[in-house]
Amino acid sequence: MEYDQSVIVPESYKVLISEKEIQKRLQELGEQITRDFKGKTPILIGILNGSFIFLADLIRYINTDLEVDFIRISSYGNGRESSGHIKILKPLSADINGRSVLVVEDIVDSGLSVQFLRKMLEAFNPVELKFVTLLNKPEKKKVDVSIDYVGFDIEDKFVVGYGLDDGQMKRNLRSIYYIEQE
Ligand code: PRP
Repeated sequence: MEYDQSVIVPESYKVLISEKEIQKRLQELGEQITRDFKGKTPILIGILNGSFIFLADLIRYINTDLEVDFIRISSYGNGRESSGHIKILKPLSADINGRSVLVVEDIVDSGLSVQFLRKMLEAFNPVELKFVTLLNKPEKKKVDVSIDYVGFDIEDKFVVGYGLDDGQMKRNLRSIYYIEQE
């Protein structure tokens, strides 16, 4: 039986991607990533805060040795639109020089965060630098970025749950919802 979270799901929230669909897609991504990184002991870098649930689930579908680290950046503050100003709130701890790196994002919207992260991380000379995102909004791109693994391409809707917040809350929802506007 699915775990019932209806008590914390407002009426305006509509399911966009169910818990089951997310897990199914994660297994596919995990298989692909396992093949591509076999024997390389990659470092997966989760971009806090939004990616923590995706990263935690994804690594359990990857069948090769790996390490995990986190960076915390902020571009949105508490609003729903990118401010364009990216701040590093927690820098990288691991040494990625000569390593295979997979950056784990929950959502790519304008692409500004990915562009910023690529430039920042390339300066540490990883041997390979790839990106995975659970969600991608193709329509919203302000810059041209290439993402190696995409969970789901979605329309330009405000999405919440499975790590993504609504005013810092609702990250604990198991499915991904969009908010129906009046
Ligand atoms: C989100 C997401 C990405 C960024 C994507 O983070 O995790 O890092 O926005 O947007 P972009 O493609 O327009 O740059 P957010 O700033 O909402 O912080 P959070 O993960 O802590 O909620």
